[in-house]
Amino acid sequence: MVTRDQAMRMEGRLQVFSGNANLALATDIAACLNLNLGRALVSTFKNGETRIKIEENVRGSDVFIVQPTCTPVNDNLMQLLILIDAVKRASAARITAVIPYYGYAKQEKKTTGREPISAKLVANLIRTAGAHRVLTMDLHAPAIEGFFDIPVDHLQAGQLLSDYVRSLNLKDPVVISPDAGGVGRANIFRERIGASLAIIAKQRPRPDAVEMLEMVGDVKGRPAVIVDDMISTGGTLVEAARSLLQRGATQVYACATHGIFAGDGISALRDSELVETIITDTIPLDPSAANARIKSISVAPLFAEAILRIHKDLSLSALFHN
Ligand code: R5P
Repeated sequence: MVTRDQAMRMEGRLQVFSGNANLALATDIAACLNLNLGRALVSTFKNGETRIKIEENVRGSDVFIVQPTCTPVNDNLMQLLILIDAVKRASAARITAVIPYYGYAKQEKKTTGREPISAKLVANLIRTAGAHRVLTMDLHAPAIEGFFDIPVDHLQAGQLLSDYVRSLNLKDPVVISPDAGGVGRANIFRERIGASLAIIAKQRPRPDAVEMLEMVGDVKGRPAVIVDDMISTGGTLVEAARSLLQRGATQVYACATHGIFAGDGISALRDSELVETIITDTIPLDPSAANARIKSISVAPLFAEAILRIHKDLSLSALFHN
């Protein structure tokens, strides 16, 4: 029999669960909320199917499931979907999918005939599994928010990254957008650190290959800071750094929210001319990054604050426009 005291304590209870994609981040988020992660078995059956079991009561709870859909993308996505299904069937009152990095985001439109729009399919899957809300960060294309028919809170890491760059006290820096699509993001960053803006035109002759074409703006005799949303193979940053130094930049830094580091991405940065690459911990960082001049900044406090505000039905605007 549940006592009146227990019932009052359980009312509106906030619980944070995690898949295996980024346990360190999920644990840090829970710690910022003065919570332990909810107990759940997240594993794989011998036949390769994802195996989930929620090991504590979630009935009537406000449940947040932290799971970036980073590599291995499909396994992490399935863990997220099945975790959502499990807490839904265990009678959670509300389920928020906390997806610090949203995989498949670059497949948000058809670039030629007979291609899928996989980012929309993933949104459908998350909704169908039973999520009531999504909390995410720096979607590759903001329009992906509209792929969901449930509320999406879209955090940005720009403030954290620009605070770090400001602390470097670079003299008269130039912020670089490595492609036309990133100009808006780079411009906000530029305002935050008091820099000017330059834009590089990038071309992809084939998937995962990069060529720098033209640059608008001047970097001669000044430090350059490349701002991007994600680093995949590292090709964009490596080529951009080379091109900026050829154009007279004194040194080149790079910032990006999501460090995917596909394939040889980490060694590409280690062998590059970049002084330092600043990322966040939306995706776990391989230990081999230790000697690649990569600085990781935690987004856990920001996610914890957002979770608390969602739980208490408070506005999140202050977190978007600081
Ligand atoms: C592209 O539109 C993105 O904003 C990044 O520039 C891109 O994903 C980086 O990929 P990579 O590191 O493979 O060049």
